[in-house]
Amino acid sequence: MIGLGIECTAHTLGIGIIRNGKIIANEKDSYITEKGGIIPMEAAKHHERVFDTVLEKALKKTKINLRDVDFISLSIGPGLAPCLLVGLRRVKELAKKLGKPIVPVNHCIAHLEIGRITRAKDPVMLYVSGANTQVIAYASGKFRVFGETLDIGVGNFIDNFARYAGIGFPGGPVIQKLAEGGKKFIELPYSVKGMDIALSGILTNLKQKLESKKYALKDLAHSLQETVFAMLVETAERALAHTDKCELLLGGGVACNSRLQEMCKIMCKERGAKFFCPSNDLLQDNGAMIAFLGEIMLKKGIKISGKKIESVDIKPRQRTDDVEVRWR
Ligand code: ATP
Ligand code: FE2
Repeated sequence: MIGLGIECTAHTLGIGIIRNGKIIANEKDSYITEKGGIIPMEAAKHHERVFDTVLEKALKKTKINLRDVDFISLSIGPGLAPCLLVGLRRVKELAKKLGKPIVPVNHCIAHLEIGRITRAKDPVMLYVSGANTQVIAYASGKFRVFGETLDIGVGNFIDNFARYAGIGFPGGPVIQKLAEGGKKFIELPYSVKGMDIALSGILTNLKQKLESKKYALKDLAHSLQETVFAMLVETAERALAHTDKCELLLGGGVACNSRLQEMCKIMCKERGAKFFCPSNDLLQDNGAMIAFLGEIMLKKGIKISGKKIESVDIKPRQRTDDVEVRWR
């Protein structure tokens, strides 16, 4: 069985191909800026512009013909509506042309389920991406959220600070680089509330500190990472303790950060838990994770075919714990 996975919820147009559980292509083209953040309509135009090229690249790499494809999975949300609509229209066209079913996939759950590739069995998941920051574990039919950000996602938080410092989008990798050169720890507000965290106060504080010109950007970047990642590690550790689970799995683009990975590893080692993290190309938005989850869902009969294809719609605000997990 061969499946296409289309990712288009935000900055990235990604197309992955899966064959019998094996990822055989994972091509993408991301909307980036030198200055300033993501403009949804511009990102949507970007996805429209690069769609055919990315698809061709993925097919060429695998020497697969579109006619060989058995299903097309699509991330239907959550995400930016203009971007989601590009994917929806293109996937409907493809599905009708090929006479193949669509598997509608929740983007956040795809970020979590791709973790199966690491062979983690029953982990606590730390999902850290642009819009989302959640500590999750699977139980009785749903991905349960144990704790989350009360305001903004950690990726958006980092990107917002980076933008303020004149860095383009995405800011995460540049902040990581800067942080590696920063040695001086500057005290920032630490904001854990039970199992949740809050980031907007820290963001304001960081901006004020930058504005004051009393601190080097590299030291602020270093202190940002040390403080906010410690908050994430603290809630993840508490979830491990409460649930009695002994595996931690990272997911989402911010999990590419090597300092966050290191801090999680240390915590896991100290409490005798196992640490799991997929490779960077599977952490950031990508089509392979959509194809991967699509195949799992299709095998359980979850698909939309024939005339019903017209009814497939985007879900820009769908939450991780709204989704009935019928494939596990
Ligand atoms: P969501 O999954 O919540 O809808 P998203 O799809 O926009 O959000 P991802 O592609 O999973 O998010 O992750 C993108 C985020 O990851 C950006 O905010 C980016 O700055 C951040 N990021 C990428 N690499 C790093 C890094 N090395 N350190 C910190 N953050 C990073
Ligand atoms: Fe994402």
